[in-house]
Amino acid sequence: MENIKWEELGFGYIRTDFNIRSTWKNGEWSTPRLTEDETVNIHMASTALHYGQTAFEGAKAFKGADGRIRLFRIEENAKRLQSSAEYLMMAVPPVELMVKMTEEVVRANARWVPPYGSGASLYIRPFLFGTGANVGVKPAEEYELIIFVTPVGPYFKAGFQPIRAIIDRDHDRAAPLGTGHIKAGGNYGASLLSGDICHKLGYQSAIYLDAAHKRYIDEAGAANFFGIKDNTYVTPKSHSVLPSITNMSLRDLAADLGLKVEERLVEYTELGTFEEAGACGTAAVISPIGEVYDPLEDKRYVYGGGTEAGPVSTKLYNLLRGIQLGDEPDTHGWVTFVDME
Ligand code: PLP
Ligand code: COI
Repeated sequence: MENIKWEELGFGYIRTDFNIRSTWKNGEWSTPRLTEDETVNIHMASTALHYGQTAFEGAKAFKGADGRIRLFRIEENAKRLQSSAEYLMMAVPPVELMVKMTEEVVRANARWVPPYGSGASLYIRPFLFGTGANVGVKPAEEYELIIFVTPVGPYFKAGFQPIRAIIDRDHDRAAPLGTGHIKAGGNYGASLLSGDICHKLGYQSAIYLDAAHKRYIDEAGAANFFGIKDNTYVTPKSHSVLPSITNMSLRDLAADLGLKVEERLVEYTELGTFEEAGACGTAAVISPIGEVYDPLEDKRYVYGGGTEAGPVSTKLYNLLRGIQLGDEPDTHGWVTFVDME
């Protein structure tokens, strides 16, 4: 690890020292165990492999100027994993179990938390899946909860630089009453082709519209969408949008900054009225959107000349990062410290 150039990290997998696991069997979660094993040995007839009984989470740990390690809103990730587990009929891990496992695995990998000032962070990836022999389409009888960590840089190569997005009307990420509101593995499998096509067309992200009407904005790839206009933070409300913890935080921060906050249906035609637009998420943080191309109407919606992040997005980004790194006061109580024992 001596060779790691923290400042140059992208969003990829780097082996760390340990991951942590707990198995649900006979109605009980086993005592979490740290392991150096990067592989999982599961039955070939596992529901995770055949029927998509698998869900995941994404969170981050940061090192502050004081050298202390901070987790950002980890209980919210635990709660969202619970809602994914409930919908996919998996064993539901208690919030305390997931938080405790996260703290333990981050502590065990403390040397992998990127240094303050590097712009990088430690990505935390909890995932839960059905195991055991099971050919029938029914929930598994055994489950595995694993959390691994890996140091990451920006999700989009350029970091806090405007990205280009394209409206995709040819694919839906999620059905109106489907699984868009949970973090099911299948949602991401369903987005791969669309993502590949939009990359080949020269865009970093797809914008998905609501599957029923193709009229309202749902999401920006693996991130939520927001727009800014008239001193208002506007973000889509839809059952098929993942309830983003970053977006939830930005709504509070926007209100703190004196903006109005609206969570409502957002017609794609409204794109022309925003002063700023952005994609937000744990991996994406805030990625300003410089341009949205609408192939149906052959129309380009451009923000900040396509190259400049807007002033409100910049303020929100600095505030969010500041809280995560401990440079700004944690007035909402979002940070948990992982101190070495
Ligand atoms: N939307 C989708 C589809 C995502 O995969 C993510 C990433 O987690 C988000 C939104 C952002 O959610 P969060 O801010 O909780 O990371
Ligand atoms: C996240 O932001 O944590 C995500 O899940 C995005 C992507 C890496 C799937």
